[in-house]
Amino acid sequence: MKIKTIWQGKEYPHNWEFYAECDEGEKIQISVKNGDAVKIAPNPKELVLQGMASCTSVDVISTLQKMRQPLEELIVECDAEQTTVHPKVFEKCNINYYVNGKELNVEKVANAVFLSFTKYCGVSAMLEKSGCHMTPKLFVNNKEIDIFDPENKISDKLKHWIKDVANNCSNGVALVTGASRGIGNALVKQLSQEDFAVIPTARSKVLYENTNIFDSLYLDVTKPNSISYLSNFLKKNSIELNLIVHNAGVFSLDSGADSLDVNYTEIHKIYEANVFGLIEANNKFMQLMSSCSTIAFVSSLMGHDSYDTYSYAAYRMSKRSVIQFAKNVALQFQNQNKKICILSLHPGSVKTDMNPSGKISVENSAKNISYLLSNKMLETRMKNNGGFWNFDLTKEVWECLK
Ligand SMILES: NC(=O)c1ccc[n+]([C@@H]2O[C@H](COP(=O)([O-])OP(=O)(O)OC[C@H]3O[C@@H](n4cnc5c(N)ncnc54)[C@H](OP(=O)(O)O)[C@@H]3O)[C@@H](O)[C@H]2O)c1
Repeated sequence: MKIKTIWQGKEYPHNWEFYAECDEGEKIQISVKNGDAVKIAPNPKELVLQGMASCTSVDVISTLQKMRQPLEELIVECDAEQTTVHPKVFEKCNINYYVNGKELNVEKVANAVFLSFTKYCGVSAMLEKSGCHMTPKLFVNNKEIDIFDPENKISDKLKHWIKDVANNCSNGVALVTGASRGIGNALVKQLSQEDFAVIPTARSKVLYENTNIFDSLYLDVTKPNSISYLSNFLKKNSIELNLIVHNAGVFSLDSGADSLDVNYTEIHKIYEANVFGLIEANNKFMQLMSSCSTIAFVSSLMGHDSYDTYSYAAYRMSKRSVIQFAKNVALQFQNQNKKICILSLHPGSVKTDMNPSGKISVENSAKNISYLLSNKMLETRMKNNGGFWNFDLTKEVWECLK
């Protein structure tokens, strides 16, 4: 993609006016307000927001057309706040979608906006990656609709599940991130057998046929708006969590990258999911924890001192940060006299997509983890609050490492 901006020596106050060209299509004007001059065109940052609004609009229109929805009008309005110091970047942005048309199916409209926002819109993804917190809102024929739960079906189902199922589970409610496959998926099933009511979260829908397990709820830990949405949704439905397992994680893209070869893109991708996303999710979900509860952070021995090598640098460093974060959280709770139990853990070498040569099955790993998280181990976990637990495969025991 190539563009060009042209400045042609205009005098003050028009000396911040430009033409912009691209490979195909008309020239457009760009103008930065200067003195008392009337601004004749969008300024560069307005152009970014207009770009985002039209990028997401294309997704919504094409999805609705594929769904044969009678769309008559779509207006996307963005309202962004910038940081106060240079370089001033977008910090927060509300995006309002006004979708109009007789006989539109609100569920389909919400789905089209959801798909654009979570999957397709490259401009909003770029802004999110730069740290801008996006809040989308949808209005269909002037009525506000929840993008993630357009007809309140999930909310209603959750209320019944809490009353009929969760309130009867002796261990309370557990939430697991990264439940689509691997260890997370097996752990959801295992915890449900240990009399937890489990809320699995994942980027894609997962089906579980077990009444103790609620429908999987959408959570992409690299998307702050998805974290905020989920925590607000759970809060709105008065959910109190007794256990959170932060399991979602990614391994090195360039799996062999040693410390001196690791590049910015790789570190960023891995930290986004394994560290930034985990911290953001934890700190938002914290408000939902019951007074006596447990938070487990799935880390890896690869991030611990005892595993001294320089390969898989980005992953190793990210998992080291998780161990440190768990310790810090436990210390802060201790200072606040809170009885929340915190631990980080290495599940052993487990055969999953991430580790195809793993030594034990996900089912066995899930049994081991749920034992560590059980009430039998509560006292030992509390004594080592904030500690890093390693599952020793040769002895088949958990050990808390210094
Ligand atoms: N397997 C091992 O031997 C081993 C050893 C030590 C530590 N661990 C740790 O154990 C955890 C689970 O690993 P695994 O072996 O089960 O790996 P896996 O089979 O690759 O599963 C990873 C899970 O994380 C989810 N995930 C990735 N990025 C996400 C995001 N941005 N938002 C939400 N979910 C996301 C994946 O969801 P999608 O399906 O949407 O991608 C998937 O459900 C990881 O934290 C890993 O580092 C594993």
